[in-house]
Amino acid sequence: MTTDASLSAAAPGLSAAASGLSAAASGLSAAAPGLSAAAPGADYAATASEAYRAALRVIESVEPRIASATRQELTDQRESLKLIASENYASPAVLLTMGTWLSDKYAEGTIGHRFYAGCQNVDEIEAIAAEHARELFGAPYAYVQPHSGIDANLVAFWAILATRVEAPALGEVGVRNVNDLSEAEWERLRAKLGSQRLMGMSLDAGGHLTHGFRPNISGKMFQQRSYGTDPTTGLLDYDAIAAAAREFKPLILVAGYSAYPRRVNFATMREIADEVGATLMVDMAHFSGLVAGKVFTGDEDPVPHAHIVTTTTHKSLRGPRGGLVLATAEYSDAVDKGCPMVLGGPLEHVIAAKAVAFAEARQHSFQAYAQRVADNAQAFADGLMRRGATLITGGTDNHIVLLDVQSFGLTGRQAESALLESGIVTNRNSIPADPNGAWYTSGIRFGTSALTTRGFGAAEFDRVAELVVEVLSNTRAEGTSKAKYTLVDSASDWVRAAAGELLDANPLYPGLNL
Ligand SMILES: Cc1ncc(COP(=O)(O)O)c(C=O)c1O
Repeated sequence: MTTDASLSAAAPGLSAAASGLSAAASGLSAAAPGLSAAAPGADYAATASEAYRAALRVIESVEPRIASATRQELTDQRESLKLIASENYASPAVLLTMGTWLSDKYAEGTIGHRFYAGCQNVDEIEAIAAEHARELFGAPYAYVQPHSGIDANLVAFWAILATRVEAPALGEVGVRNVNDLSEAEWERLRAKLGSQRLMGMSLDAGGHLTHGFRPNISGKMFQQRSYGTDPTTGLLDYDAIAAAAREFKPLILVAGYSAYPRRVNFATMREIADEVGATLMVDMAHFSGLVAGKVFTGDEDPVPHAHIVTTTTHKSLRGPRGGLVLATAEYSDAVDKGCPMVLGGPLEHVIAAKAVAFAEARQHSFQAYAQRVADNAQAFADGLMRRGATLITGGTDNHIVLLDVQSFGLTGRQAESALLESGIVTNRNSIPADPNGAWYTSGIRFGTSALTTRGFGAAEFDRVAELVVEVLSNTRAEGTSKAKYTLVDSASDWVRAAAGELLDANPLYPGLNL
């Protein structure tokens, strides 16, 4: 009863908000060219403020604690120096697109071929999102349904298995569908699907769990072997990868990383894949914003070289949380069957937000943003090294900086906690041959995508480097503990204040007032 009453009470407010939304539409197109800049236009911010205030009032009428935690999250994000390499700040247009009734629609299947009626609008939305994705990345085919990066990788793995293992097996017995196989034939095919080989980058060199590691389903599906990095330079050694691939003969060669601070030569990776008969799959989850923004071109752009490319949409690409698969014609039919093969019904509200984010990324200003992300990473790396810090590979040429904290006498866990206590949000990360293992680690991974969205440039990142070194130089491990530490109070206070000045000068969502 209370809920009904508050909802009907909210109704007039909702229609009031509707007129604000049409204002938003004009504000949006006015603001569109400036969207990728740190400070979108005043109209846009005012209209977004109105929309969020109205939305939070509606939420509050049902569950005030959710409205309150949502407001607090904005405050916390505004007040912290976010250097988590996998995070960013999506635009209000992207975020608002997710909060609609598109969420209510079931749409299993694919564009024009659904298992549910009434999908004309979601068909249109998915087609727009896929068109933007194809244009943005110059890919022949785009599949926008994956709910996350893990899901995108699963779709890719099963599309490769379907194309390279299942289809030939069906052909051999002269049937077109798995349902037409006898029990014995089906069991033989299942055994074959379950005994394929995959090769990907090792975790401590910066690879990802979904690239064939045992705790993830990919490790249970495939026999896996890893390639690492050169122990002296920390860089990928393509000759060593080729030799390992020749010996192991994987069905799938995976390139891509979540903690490698360098670019990859995908033309060379394709040569290696071709030589051993492997399908090259590139997981560009981390650096797809740099591909979209044309910072990585030629051999460093995976799209012209890989058979299948997967990505998240929420990291450097600055979209909603989600995944995307790009594929060559050879794999597109199999990728298209991702739902219901391994995915549940598509999240159409998120797919709509992907379309908006891809449209933003196709603007010229996104290229300037992506270039600043890479330039800022270099400024940050230089700032750390100038102050005596040790970086894995001796620098960066993407958006990631991987700091070895052993020279500060700390574990990654201690460094991460001390930085957080000082208002700097990062995550600990293994380094190659990490003596402290995957839990405590010896590294801190930084990324520049989020603070670049806030408007930070090279000078600000140099200052952030100073703050990081100040915190770590004033942190001591307690006894033999790998977790406990002591941080000098005055250092932490000084860093918090200095971080606050940087944050105030570069506000998150400027003009957005709740
Ligand atoms: C390289 C890579 N692939 C896949 C993923 C998984 O993405 P999600 O968390 O969206 O499933 C990540 C996330 O950190 C990643 O870094």
